[in-house]
Amino acid sequence: MDHFAYQNGVLHAENIPVSAIAREVGTPVYIYSAATLSRHARVFKQALSVLPSVHIAFAVKSNPNLAVLKLLASEGYGADVVSAGEMDRALAAGIPAQGVVFSGVGKTADELTRALKAGIGQFNIESEEEGVELAELAAALGLTARAALRVNPDVDAGTHAKISTGMADNKFGVAYDRAAGIYARLSALDGIEMRGLAVHIGSQLSKLEPLEAAFAKMGDLMRAIRADGHSVTHMDLGGGLGVPYKAEDVFPSPDDYAAMVARVTADWGVTLMFEPGRVIAGNSGILVTEVVRVKQGVNAPFVIVDAAMNDLARPALYGSWHDFLAVEPKGEVFTANIVGPICESSDTFAMGRQIDHVEKGDLAVFRTAGAYGATMANTYNSRALVPEVMVSGDQWAIVANRIDPAAILAAEQVPDWLK
Ligand code: LLP
Repeated sequence: MDHFAYQNGVLHAENIPVSAIAREVGTPVYIYSAATLSRHARVFKQALSVLPSVHIAFAVKSNPNLAVLKLLASEGYGADVVSAGEMDRALAAGIPAQGVVFSGVGKTADELTRALKAGIGQFNIESEEEGVELAELAAALGLTARAALRVNPDVDAGTHAKISTGMADNKFGVAYDRAAGIYARLSALDGIEMRGLAVHIGSQLSKLEPLEAAFAKMGDLMRAIRADGHSVTHMDLGGGLGVPYKAEDVFPSPDDYAAMVARVTADWGVTLMFEPGRVIAGNSGILVTEVVRVKQGVNAPFVIVDAAMNDLARPALYGSWHDFLAVEPKGEVFTANIVGPICESSDTFAMGRQIDHVEKGDLAVFRTAGAYGATMANTYNSRALVPEVMVSGDQWAIVANRIDPAAILAAEQVPDWLK
């Protein structure tokens, strides 16, 4: 459920006509609904309240906008970060350092040091080498890093190959069979307190079975590590719960997910940690675009919009579907290809899709763009970096400015020898 709906024939974000924002800010522009974000945050948290001890860390990568993080901080969310840049955002949004989990396969010594000094709650280390380095850095600072070992359970998440992370050949975590040995060796080091295990098998999961299989394997590993005499007090079960991108798609609900987790983890006796991204932010955002023109095609007309793969990369990268709706539909539909202005064929949002009839100058939106939308934007073809707006009831504000190509050009210089 979200708060983007038609009122008097015009698509609104909560109480604001999308066209009013487009008129003032220009297009393309992302719009987030604060009520939708809060609702998703509460529904997910409420679902997990059947579990005894829980920490929820929003996956900042899915939507790192400061206002979004601030809102989630006020809902009691921590943050799952994968770079010092994301950590700085989470802390700037007022998320307590204790609530921050630092994941990521390539944390640099500088990033580890900064996170140690900031006093973050947990490092999810992805290799024995990283654990040793973290322990040395912490010991040198007279600190102890709280850490969980990320394990690759070799389970097929059944999602797009580019967003699967838990199979043997994926770069993430340590091999399942080596995990207990690594945990034991790292536990013996000064500067690090091994307190748990972490797993994340992929994103946009449409079924609970792969998650359940992975969690069950993690439970077995936890028991083996405890049997070796080591303490395991925290188990991080990652993110990954998918969302419907098409109205007819059916996905497991947060309640279904929580019931499965409760069943698998009933006797674990740990604090369970979660890193949801898409399920919180996905349906909370739309990307607004204007039709530049409609050109004739061989098989279907091309609707050329002013948003492109640099603003919303998912269709180009993963062939993802985003619903496309006119802001003021006229009641007619047609079959068309939706493309952006960028000079490569991957800049295609949809081919041969039945959509609202649109013409030059009409406004339209791509739905379900709140997660992995603006965060993956770039400036390819010397386009602007797309702005972001947040709506709350009948108020709205720009929460990220458009960064014009001129500002990016101004950061470049020609070396003396070329002048
Ligand atoms: N935890 C870890 C360690 C992750 O790598 C991720 C996502 C998450 C949590 C959050 O997963 P979520 O709940 O959002 O599924 N750009 C892709 C998605 C990449 C996901 C990367 N990792 C897309 O647009 O579909």
